[in-house]
Amino acid sequence: MAGSAAPGGEGWSSRWAFVLAAVGAAVGLGNIWRFPTLAGENGGGAFVLVYIACIILIGLPMVLSEILIGRHGRSDAFHSVVKVAEDSNVSRNWGIFGGIGILSAFLILTFYSVVAGWVLYYVGVMGSDFLGALFSGNPFAGALASENPETIPSRMTDLFGNIPLLLGMHTLFMVLTIWIVARGVTDGIEKAATYLMPTFFVLLVLITLYGAFTGEFAKALAFLFTPDFSKLTPSVMNDALGQALFSMSVASAALITYGGYVSKETRLAPTAGMIAFADTGVALLAGLMIFPIVFAVGLDAAAGPTLVFQSLPIAFHTMPAGSLVGLLFFVLIFFAALTSSISLLEGVVAWAMRRFEWGRAMTAWLFGGFVFLIGVACALSLNVWSDIRLLGFWPLFEEKNIFDTIDDFVSKILLPTTAFLTAVFIGWRADKKLVEAETGLDGALFAIYRFLIAWLAPVGVLLIFVFAVFPN
Ligand code: PHE
Repeated sequence: MAGSAAPGGEGWSSRWAFVLAAVGAAVGLGNIWRFPTLAGENGGGAFVLVYIACIILIGLPMVLSEILIGRHGRSDAFHSVVKVAEDSNVSRNWGIFGGIGILSAFLILTFYSVVAGWVLYYVGVMGSDFLGALFSGNPFAGALASENPETIPSRMTDLFGNIPLLLGMHTLFMVLTIWIVARGVTDGIEKAATYLMPTFFVLLVLITLYGAFTGEFAKALAFLFTPDFSKLTPSVMNDALGQALFSMSVASAALITYGGYVSKETRLAPTAGMIAFADTGVALLAGLMIFPIVFAVGLDAAAGPTLVFQSLPIAFHTMPAGSLVGLLFFVLIFFAALTSSISLLEGVVAWAMRRFEWGRAMTAWLFGGFVFLIGVACALSLNVWSDIRLLGFWPLFEEKNIFDTIDDFVSKILLPTTAFLTAVFIGWRADKKLVEAETGLDGALFAIYRFLIAWLAPVGVLLIFVFAVFPN
């Protein structure tokens, strides 16, 4: 056994198990749903540029810092930070940012599960469509072949209008997530990741190749990679920063917690690099899959959270074998979402197990249950509760429903705050020898890492944050 020694003696059974689980945590709805949504809303190129800069300069050193905190502390996000603080002879109060991270994970999962529910719904729609095509002897039909392309996007509005269905899908997804986390690190989380992630990547490559031959590519490339600097407002930059942090799963407990199950022999820096590379690659690929279609069928790139779900089925409609490809595609998103939701819940459960000294299964069902209930409010805010404003007094949130308020509050306020505190802690307060030994870096590479985490990350986050949250 390479692993072991974390809370309850749990640990990854190999380095690959850890890499797959961590990549699984990072790659998710953030890449395939949230990235295209925000890139579209924020006008493309300039947003993408800031996003990539944030990934490299802030996200990457953050990933390494969080895994090292976890491995040194051998515990959940809160207790691991406390342990590093103690071993560095600084105040245990630094644990607070670990705690904010746990709160963020909890809040993210509430709306994440609702969106994952939309994915499940489309798996059902596409699945029954494909079965229909198969049994009528036409397995290579386009998706929803009997429908008119203009009416296909209304599937989404149908779902939003159907409360039992909307809540049912959310329930199904939460139950699955809780069940896997309740099974534990090796039997649940690791097993899920080692089956789901390789399948995910095979599907992704197949569908992207397929799309590259059929879609309208040039316009999408131009949209995503030609920055129009007049669009670079503080709010666009804050969105890009929040998305970079969200997508890499930093500042939200998951990576510290997963780091707690890593063996002492594992080299952390290459793993951090792999997570950053895979995560960014999948986001950009998702953009290149989605925007050619958006432009081809004349959808509004700034349509918001439903963009991906409404545009893709139209593409699958016209594609040869679109019924099958469409089904595979939504299965792919579902796998990605599940490995991420597991990491979100694990971030909360690992802390609660320790804090209350409860067993894993009970903790998972209890806290998963709390998440589920707030998720119900998020789901209803797409329907009967659409007028409720949680933070209506705050200009930043004055027009937002419950769903968007939670999403924005986490990504614009909580994640940057935690990222800032993590960077200051690792860059300035934690024992330098301890940090150096855990990273396994030396010489120039360690100097670069130090510079990024001590200077660039905190200053960058602070500047973006202050300008966006306190405009003028
Ligand atoms: N990074 C995940 C995604 O892109 C979401 C996530 C955020 C997971 C924070 C864990 C912690 O979908």
